[in-house]
Amino acid sequence: MKKLAIVILAAGKSTRMKSATSKVLHRLAGLPLVSYPLQEALKLRPQKLVMVVGRGEEASFEQALGRDKRVKYCTQAGARGTGDAVLSVEGLLKNFDGYVLVLPGDVPLIFSSTLGEFIGTVEEGGADCAIISTCMPDPAEYGRVIRDDSGRFLAIREARDATDDELEIDEINTGIVLARSNWLFESLKEIKPHNAQNEYYLTDVIDLAARGGRKVMAHCMLPHEQFLGVNDRAGLAYAAKIMHFCIAEYWMVRGVSVQDPDQTYIDSTVTIGEDANIAPSVFLRGKTRVGKGCIIDTGTVLTDATVGDNVYIKPYSVIEESRIMEGAQVGPFSRVRPGSYLGRGVKVGNFVEVKKSVLKPGVKANHLSYIGDATIGAKTNVGCGTITCNYDGRAKHRTVIGEGVLVGSDTQFVAPVRIGKNAVIGAGSTITKNVPPKALALSRVEQVNISNWKPRGEKRSKVKGKRRKD
Ligand code: UD1
Ligand code: CA
Repeated sequence: MKKLAIVILAAGKSTRMKSATSKVLHRLAGLPLVSYPLQEALKLRPQKLVMVVGRGEEASFEQALGRDKRVKYCTQAGARGTGDAVLSVEGLLKNFDGYVLVLPGDVPLIFSSTLGEFIGTVEEGGADCAIISTCMPDPAEYGRVIRDDSGRFLAIREARDATDDELEIDEINTGIVLARSNWLFESLKEIKPHNAQNEYYLTDVIDLAARGGRKVMAHCMLPHEQFLGVNDRAGLAYAAKIMHFCIAEYWMVRGVSVQDPDQTYIDSTVTIGEDANIAPSVFLRGKTRVGKGCIIDTGTVLTDATVGDNVYIKPYSVIEESRIMEGAQVGPFSRVRPGSYLGRGVKVGNFVEVKKSVLKPGVKANHLSYIGDATIGAKTNVGCGTITCNYDGRAKHRTVIGEGVLVGSDTQFVAPVRIGKNAVIGAGSTITKNVPPKALALSRVEQVNISNWKPRGEKRSKVKGKRRKD
């Protein structure tokens, strides 16, 4: 490949998105929209890569995309159209002599292989300026490719400036342009904003080139979905639908069962092991890693979670920034909050909330509990309704429970408190003091049975101070 510079257009007013956030920073399958064409562009290993952003936007782009030395930013002073955006890069490409590939930042489904093929074809044909065109069943807002009767490519007409006849054309401009650098920047200085939007259209250089006897080319490529331009929130949702399907397909090819790809939302940053089975209405987000053979059941949301092999996440569980080790079971209806570690074979059941806690291998907490700021030793059984009272109104305190402890139902641990190995906590206890190993701790009030009890108003038998021990 000859010398290549890539310019990604990411400035503009985002008028149709109606948002305080730049359109191309809106998220799609977990990443900002523009990061997709950026990743594909980098795969082409260009000599230069410039991203055009709006005034004052560089910091927010760098924050959203991460600092990358290969990417240079260029500010477009006003949002005066795609032609003006490309011209603003001229200074940065002063010493560059080769082809410039212009990529719209709002085309997230593009593949580097498509771009590579396009560049190869243009180089072979020796065109001065070329575009990728495609055919769309409903071309709506896209610029139309104008050809003469012999099929020669003449110009691009924006939908807003097109006649009714031109609007009937289904071959459209994808917005991807490849042009010789020297010629491109000179031509951009000649275009005029004489159109419906009073903008400098990049697409107008085609007309100039064709009239000036330059070699222009519209290279038609399919499928059209890869060139989808996201202009508004409906477009974003549509692109997300395709992207989510493609991600599910990617994992299915690698041995993951995705029961209904249309209803599975896996971010592009997630990894999944072979033989995992993902039910519908599951969201796998951020840096989530799912191990081999896991079952991730319906309604589950995993965010930045690391899940070991053969873990079963039962329906409607929410897990965030936590590690779940091999063979563990979570849910249904469990919530595992940031900073938690569930060891091998741990079972956390319905309506159990775990926060910033370590549950060592084999711990069971099967029903209705809050475990916060706790460390629980191996094989300890946490009875139903157990609460770690970790907050005293000012600070958080830890509960440390040894291994093999039997925690009776409806226990409260008032932290800070430590429970020794193999201790037993009687049901209904409020534990405020440390419990030594192997001890039985009880803190509940003794039961009173009042015999022959009658409701208020009725004659009652006397309570003769008879208190029966339970
Ligand atoms: C553009 C094309 C249209 C094509 C369509 C494909 C022009 C004039 N029209 O239209 O022929 O069918 O893409 O998706 O090029 N941008 C800037 N600065 C600006 C304006 C836009 O950087 O002043 C950036 C935007 O962030 C966006 C890209 O350029 O990523 C395209 O701009 P947009 O306004 O979406 O162009 P379309 O109307 O979609
Ligand atoms: Ca667009």
